[in-house]
Amino acid sequence: MSHKIVSQCTARLNRSEQAVPGSNPTFMEKASKGSADVVFLDLEDAVAPDEKEQARKNVIEALHDLDWTGKTVSVRINGLDTQYMYRDVVDVMEQAGDKLDLFMIPKAGTAADIYMVDALVNQIEIAKGYTKRIGFEMIIETALGMQNVHEIASASTRNESLHFGVADYAASTQARTINIGGPNPDYSVLTHADENGKRDLHWGDMWHYAVARMVVAARANGLRAIDGPFGDISDPDGFAAQARRSAVLGCEGKWAIHPSQVDIVNQIFSPSEEEVTRAKRVLSAMDEAKREGRGAVTLDGRLIDLASIRQAEVLVRKAEVIGSNG
Ligand code: GLV
Ligand code: MG
Repeated sequence: MSHKIVSQCTARLNRSEQAVPGSNPTFMEKASKGSADVVFLDLEDAVAPDEKEQARKNVIEALHDLDWTGKTVSVRINGLDTQYMYRDVVDVMEQAGDKLDLFMIPKAGTAADIYMVDALVNQIEIAKGYTKRIGFEMIIETALGMQNVHEIASASTRNESLHFGVADYAASTQARTINIGGPNPDYSVLTHADENGKRDLHWGDMWHYAVARMVVAARANGLRAIDGPFGDISDPDGFAAQARRSAVLGCEGKWAIHPSQVDIVNQIFSPSEEEVTRAKRVLSAMDEAKREGRGAVTLDGRLIDLASIRQAEVLVRKAEVIGSNG
């Protein structure tokens, strides 16, 4: 282990991250009563330019009037390159900063972007005497953001999570996509011919590098890694497959851009009963070995290494949080 200890961000359940347009009060109300772990009220790309001001007012109202108990609530501000962003931060913080948990910073490109929002938030927090500290979630969705992902991840002690914004990322990198966040059959290899001359086309995951790179940057800085949107809301199987592969790579959750996607990801990113039982057995085997003064921990005749014990601890802790949240 390195001498450098990575401190972990505020722990939150983040299996599902539901996107809701700030221009639609009905959707916000429904989301407050839904089952998403995190709901982000959007002031950015789901809101048309002539609706920006009204959406900001709606979001402030929704933060005050709706019951967000049991949920984490976030507001996605506009990009730093727009004329809306400063008012998003100032108005939302000044008028509802004590109701909000997180700001989502889209199209984060450099560490200085985070620094700027941090400075603003800091001043308002002090000026208003808020005791709740706002956290940040950053969307990595441009080539620049991916280039600087490590610096972005460590840019503020408010940082909690990195999100892979696959739609804008595809636009920024000029990747060829068919469906937001889904695979493209052209990203494939053709196998050699078998004895009958038959060749198979094996589809690959064109987002593997980006998601894996973001996961490393997030975890190296004690943050959660969250996978972004999947556009085809009529394809729950395709959505679930993408979510499962994100979970395999180390993501802790995925966006839901439609309410029907929330329960799918809540289930996929929850440890199964079998996993929890096994993890608990690993931890009791470790306790037993400690009590008996044995250095080596074994379970079912197999040696358990320290990495497995750490994984078991993370899993059991997560299951406890899910249990207490329902
Ligand atoms: C999310 O904002 C995305 O661009 O995918
Ligand atoms: Mg985007």
